[in-house]
Amino acid sequence: MSINLAVFVSGRGSNLEAILNATREGKLSANIVAVVCNEPEAGALAIAKKYDVKTIVIPSVAVSRKIHESKVLEHLSGLSIDYLVLAGYMRILSPHILNQFSDARGFNRVINIHPSLLPAFPGRTAYEDAFNYGVKVSGVTVHFVDEKVDHGPILAQESFRRLPADSLADFKARGLQVEHELYPWALEQVAKNNIVIHARGEQ
Ligand code: GRF
Repeated sequence: MSINLAVFVSGRGSNLEAILNATREGKLSANIVAVVCNEPEAGALAIAKKYDVKTIVIPSVAVSRKIHESKVLEHLSGLSIDYLVLAGYMRILSPHILNQFSDARGFNRVINIHPSLLPAFPGRTAYEDAFNYGVKVSGVTVHFVDEKVDHGPILAQESFRRLPADSLADFKARGLQVEHELYPWALEQVAKNNIVIHARGEQ
């Protein structure tokens, strides 16, 4: 089965490109129906253009979250989106949007990638925080999104090592390579309905 995705971005767009490549290469059974962006200057928009994907640009400055999210929902209505895919989208989604994508299976049809092994190092500076903490192993998490930041049922995780000679840039580059493999793979599991969520708090 092929799923319809709206990819949400704010910046560079390297994960967006990895996802688009995976669909082209037949590794991901998904249609990227639209790229939603809140930053008119984001590099991700050039990538969407290169791949001829519809862009929806709704600046978020000087506008309330409610109004911004209403505009996003308005633009997405009628596009038959199965999942929202956050790829470096630097905004928190409120229940206003999340509730529109709730799923009978008990999660929201909203997916995020975060560059740490959650629940360690949530927040915007995960690579820096893990590196500065002195971890020997870090990783990447793909998870369903709930109302808390970088939180929700985990779909996939993969680790990578911090090597003794690593600079922060080396560490980030190694992590980003993992991100670009893991996100398309995790989305393909969603497309195949091969979703395995381990219950928390149980032996
Ligand atoms: C990635 O590190 C992602 O994990 C985080 O934001 C960054 C986005 O990078 N949520 P890009 O825009 O996909 O290149």
